[in-house]
Amino acid sequence: MLAQRTTRIAVSPTMKVAAEAMRLKAQGVDIVDLGAGEPDFPTPTHVSAAAHAAIDGHFTKYTTNSGTDELKQAVCARYRQDFGVEYTPAEAIITAGGKQALYNAAMCLFGPGDEVITHMPGWPTLVEQIKLSEATPVIVRTHAEDGFRLRAQTVLDALTSNTRGIVINSPGNPTGALIDEADLAAIADEAARRGIWILLDLCYEKLIYDTTPHNLPRVLAERMRDHTVLCGSASKAYAMTGWRCGWALAPAALVNACNALQSHSTSNVCSITQKAATAALTGPQKCVTDMLDEYRRRRDQLCEWLAAEPRLRLQKPAGAFYLFPDVSEFLSPDGIRTSAALAQALLDDARVAITAGEAFDAPGFIRLSYATSMDQLKRGSERIIEFVRALEKRGNAVA
Ligand SMILES: Cc1ncc(COP(=O)(O)O)c(C=O)c1O
Repeated sequence: MLAQRTTRIAVSPTMKVAAEAMRLKAQGVDIVDLGAGEPDFPTPTHVSAAAHAAIDGHFTKYTTNSGTDELKQAVCARYRQDFGVEYTPAEAIITAGGKQALYNAAMCLFGPGDEVITHMPGWPTLVEQIKLSEATPVIVRTHAEDGFRLRAQTVLDALTSNTRGIVINSPGNPTGALIDEADLAAIADEAARRGIWILLDLCYEKLIYDTTPHNLPRVLAERMRDHTVLCGSASKAYAMTGWRCGWALAPAALVNACNALQSHSTSNVCSITQKAATAALTGPQKCVTDMLDEYRRRRDQLCEWLAAEPRLRLQKPAGAFYLFPDVSEFLSPDGIRTSAALAQALLDDARVAITAGEAFDAPGFIRLSYATSMDQLKRGSERIIEFVRALEKRGNAVA
């Protein structure tokens, strides 16, 4: 028998799709993979070179559990430069991806009887981590008609005397939506008054397409620095998903607790990875903007291609690298009934891997990742359009 806590969680559904697509590709099946939640670009050369140098220089032993001082300094310096917020290495911990930063924080802050607010459609891990901490997730919803923006009032309406934390992801996966600074400020003012923690998942912070004011770290640092946790990651910005490097910036007492937790679970992040991440954060940032420019071209092009089928209702996302169209027009009680079934049919019949909205608590939607080549995007959009049009001919579509 497994421990009771295992009954509260399930394997990440986004990872399941990726595994299935990978399995088919390994069998030689021609899959267009729009499922991936990771950059298709190689890790920048100067970053990999730093890792090679680390191995050659035998930098291959344990490091301080919370990360090397040089990497913690590099994280603090980047946040100072990018957001104008001041953190010291004592307020920083290096983690195995942004995921562990968020996990550590949830485990060190939340517990039975606590309510923790987060938003959906959203990244499922945020909810699962709240459950693992034995707190109760309180889900507030954002809506396609409103560009999936998280509004302050929606969050404020969900506050109770048991609210202990609020977890916000912006730019959001899967919607690409950004929270407005003013909305975050209104939430923060109330959270500060009530002593509620805000965890900010900034995993896609470098992937914002227009010059929109989005200095969320400063909004929080100015209002409630002592109850703020900034969780960042090298994964998406520097095409480093496999290296597993993220970080949290938070008050020293919380960082110390996260450090203790991590010291009894994973210990330090791989020493070689830490050298690579230091090079990424301190080196030229042009690689980041070059990738962003390419994602923008892909986003615009994919939107244009998919616009040929207006019943795929989609909005141009402001950030991250996903489109999140509403596919409900193609679902019907007598045919393909759910977006999960549509995703499966797209994989089985059209050989396109996408992620069903159900994975993000958003049935009726699908997530298409454009972190892949233009050629794949073209073939993927053609296959999807052809597939949904054929459905209609078979009398599947509702109207
Ligand atoms: C919204 C969001 N936050 C955090 C992460 C964590 O990524 P990593 O652990 O690779 O930093 C992901 C990964 O997909 C994500 O989509």
